[in-house]
Amino acid sequence: MSSAILTVKNIIKRFSGTVALKGVDMELYPNEILALVGENGAGKSTLMKILSGIYPYGSYEGELLLGGKVCKFQSPADSEDAGIAMIYQELNLELDLSVGENILLGRYPRSALGFIDWKKVHREARTALDMLGVDIDTKVTVRNLNPSMQQLVSIARALYRNPSILILDEPTSVLTEKEANSLMDILRGLKDKGISCIYISHKLDEIFALCDRTVVFRDGEKISEYTKSAGYGSSKVIEDMIGRHLDAMYPVRKANIGEEVLRVEHFRVAHPFAYGKSIIEDASFSLHKGEILGLSGLVGAGRSELVSAIFGALPKQAGKLYLEGKEVNINSPIEAIQHGLGFLSEDRKKNGFIWTMSIRENMTLVCLRDLVKGLFVDKRKEVQLAQEYFEKLSVKAPSLDTQITNLSGGNQQKVILAKWLMSDIKILMLDEPTRGIDVGTKSEIYKLMQELTDLGISIILISSEMPELLAMCDRLVVLGKGTVQCEMLHGEANEVNLMRAASGT
Ligand SMILES: Nc1ncnc2c1ncn2[C@@H]1O[C@H](COP(=O)(O)OP(=O)(O)OP(=O)(O)O)[C@@H](O)[C@H]1O
Ligand SMILES: [Mg+2]
Repeated sequence: MSSAILTVKNIIKRFSGTVALKGVDMELYPNEILALVGENGAGKSTLMKILSGIYPYGSYEGELLLGGKVCKFQSPADSEDAGIAMIYQELNLELDLSVGENILLGRYPRSALGFIDWKKVHREARTALDMLGVDIDTKVTVRNLNPSMQQLVSIARALYRNPSILILDEPTSVLTEKEANSLMDILRGLKDKGISCIYISHKLDEIFALCDRTVVFRDGEKISEYTKSAGYGSSKVIEDMIGRHLDAMYPVRKANIGEEVLRVEHFRVAHPFAYGKSIIEDASFSLHKGEILGLSGLVGAGRSELVSAIFGALPKQAGKLYLEGKEVNINSPIEAIQHGLGFLSEDRKKNGFIWTMSIRENMTLVCLRDLVKGLFVDKRKEVQLAQEYFEKLSVKAPSLDTQITNLSGGNQQKVILAKWLMSDIKILMLDEPTRGIDVGTKSEIYKLMQELTDLGISIILISSEMPELLAMCDRLVVLGKGTVQCEMLHGEANEVNLMRAASGT
């Protein structure tokens, strides 16, 4: 093999209370797409933040070598100048600037007189977006774009910098399958042009399809590596990731379905981007006790908007809601919670947690009213309950009192999920609950869903992962063109007929 363009030598990174990287060695070769996989909290993002200069030289031990020379990045700008571009797991855009401004940020072309040449800014931004085959107006403010569009803008920004090494930290978690596929084609094209990539993802099929080599991290250490040419199987990689053998991803679904608990009648919900239009025109469906109901449909079919409207997080334009046969009026999430509804929203950054609080405080936000003893919160019970879920979902953190901001992306997701699992709810709506979650924990979440329905709780599940929907749902409602296209029972549905129903073909 030719010599490495990037070498990571014995890197150790400590945070108070945690050693995130415990002496990691890794190489990246020319024309290579390298996958980095590992459980939530394994240290993947931390290593990438060292490469991108977020954690400056001196804040870690060990060395980074680019083309054989030691790098001492003091800032992200130093890393960019050395040819490394990074797409972060958390979006990293200036929300109030335009698409064009974001793509060229810090590199605005200037006229002879020193003024910013705005025409050129937008022209060059357009060229970067065209490389991705994305048709977004470069003058639109980034805040007004949906998460997948925002992700594409950050990818365009990285490409505009013409990097020799591109790092992508879970780039497809908010992309549609089509967008993800086109991103992979782009990465293959970049590789042919001599750009090497480090690619982090929890979606192993993606990794096996795209990457030349896979490095597995566990607990801040490199555990193993596999090359595509030598062939590798997912079960071995999974075993290395989670440190045990995973028998089955999904529990065998045993449903005990009772009477109707929720009925949605003729819901109409406004379109989030197109003023005056409705994303849901007229949707009706019901949910039964102990049932897992899947909402299926293409992105943009309004699945998230529909459940947000049921939860009172979005206003509905028309429609009626019945709980256990009685009509109810839910106008806010607080009222929804009072009626026993829970909602894990897709956009956890915006609606999921309170940044300044600890893991325990975030977990017990909703169930606090059940923990009140006289005038005070029963602290012992609160800690006990939080500890139980902390362990059940194997949240990786030094303690329950760790600030949620210090957790890895996947572990933050686990805390929000725990918040709903701990509260006294009858109906739980889960919008992409396993996004960014490692395979081992995913299977724990499926088991928990089974346990919840055993207790008589009903679940509405939205997921872009078809196998997840097919394995877990007792019934599927397919949304399309603003309405319910059809319903299918577990066993009737498969990837083909679901896709057909969703696209109306
Ligand atoms: N700023 C911080 N302060 C304290 N601890 C941190 C900080 N950032 C990360 N950690 C800890 O370092 C460890 C590694 O986190 P990292 O974000 O690198 O994980 P990851 O492999 O990217 O996980 P995920 O798949 O969930 O994104 C975790 O235990 C995390 O809690
Ligand atoms: Mg991460």
